Amino acid sequence: MAGLLRHGLRAASPFSWPTPGLKAVRHRCGPIRPAPPVPARASSSQTPGPIPAHPPASSAQIRVQERDYPTDDWTNLTPQILARLDRRLHLQAGHPLSLIRRRIVRYMYDKFPNYRGHPLFSVHDRLSPVVTLAQNYDALLVPPQHPSRKPSDSYYINRTWMLRAHTSAHQIELIQMGLDNFLVVGDVYRRDAIDASHYPVFHQVEGVRLLDAAGVNARWAGSLRDTPIQLFEAGTEKPHKQAGHTVDATQLLEWELKDCLLGLIRDLFGSDLQYRWVDAYFPFTHPSWELEIQYQGQWMEMLGCGIMRQELLHQGGVPEKIGWAFGLGLERLAMKLYEIPDIRIFWSQDSGFLSQFQTDDIDQVIKYKAVSKYPQCINDISFWLPQEGSEYSSNDFFDLVRSIGGDLVEQVVLVDSFYHEKKQKHSHCYRIVYRSTEKTLTQEEANEIHKHIENQATSRLKVQIR
Ligand code: DAH
Repeated sequence: MAGLLRHGLRAASPFSWPTPGLKAVRHRCGPIRPAPPVPARASSSQTPGPIPAHPPASSAQIRVQERDYPTDDWTNLTPQILARLDRRLHLQAGHPLSLIRRRIVRYMYDKFPNYRGHPLFSVHDRLSPVVTLAQNYDALLVPPQHPSRKPSDSYYINRTWMLRAHTSAHQIELIQMGLDNFLVVGDVYRRDAIDASHYPVFHQVEGVRLLDAAGVNARWAGSLRDTPIQLFEAGTEKPHKQAGHTVDATQLLEWELKDCLLGLIRDLFGSDLQYRWVDAYFPFTHPSWELEIQYQGQWMEMLGCGIMRQELLHQGGVPEKIGWAFGLGLERLAMKLYEIPDIRIFWSQDSGFLSQFQTDDIDQVIKYKAVSKYPQCINDISFWLPQEGSEYSSNDFFDLVRSIGGDLVEQVVLVDSFYHEKKQKHSHCYRIVYRSTEKTLTQEEANEIHKHIENQATSRLKVQIR
């Protein structure tokens, strides 16, 4: 998300990177990764270009959730990430992510009752995070050259299958199943730096609501005008509407969407909350917005949303309907609500942490108390990058550090990078902060892990320690 939604405090969604010619995102807080130049690549996601994402996997098959998949040059899933698939924190009783999920679901049930007073929305919180690239990108109109598709940013099983990078990946299949109002809750996976506000796995809630002309007119019956509201017209795309949509229909949907989301945020955080709507860009919605709220003196992006691109509804088999959608990050909401300062805490199995959230009352006011504070061990590592021609990405190094140091690694930061003219080599220096959340880590223990990281970086990433 939360880019959204990145988790933690990261601002930008990789899916929201502005496309030339389209409206740019007006404001963001926190560090934004600039969109790097994207190498030319074949246009279908089934035939991506020749960029090896990772050193080739050693075995020809990889087992993910009891199914074997052939590996290829895009395979970059690590065992550490694979192990996260079974955790399903959003379903774990007495986990903060589960408490907040239940609050969101209750809010949506109450907000949208059907004519019998039952919930209109259905909830899908057990869908497998293994999706096709077609689901994650193509179905959502993410262009073939879009930076979010880069192997350095997502976890690929192979060129066809991946771990979903957002819950939006399930929109089309659920619409095709005939659903008009639904929520998807689940774990999403993105390769990223490691620190207090970034973790390669986080959780999102996706909401989708579709209406046809009869639904729109029944919903706003009598409140606007005598003549029925039209949904479609042959027009041109404007900043405030899609080509085929009427202004009326767009405005009604925008009003309902924002009313729903603002209501949700107020339900969670109280009504004297400072918020603002920011124009945004997503390939699958237009117009699009983000909701930001004040958090520790800064504007923090909480969610992304918009009017669904009509192409999606065509694909879903319901061209006569229009719809809105949103995606929000659970970790961000939970960090603010329960004052949890570090995103890695969500993965702690320490009873000192979990016991603080053992309640059946989802409205109980809980403020997280740090379990313990142990000293940090800080070690630097400097190396020459492999020579021109072999691919190196900092995310490969982050993953390697995590796969060796696990949760004992609190932070990895690139502190220095330079080019040596004479040697014609690039150098990177990273600072690795080691700290256990469970005990005092001795410098000797940290040194041992660090040595192992140096060795593995040399053999697997082909760097040369300086
Ligand atoms: N999938 C987006 C992300 O992860 C968030 C999002 C934005 C979801 C707009 C939506 C939407 O459904 O309409 O960054």
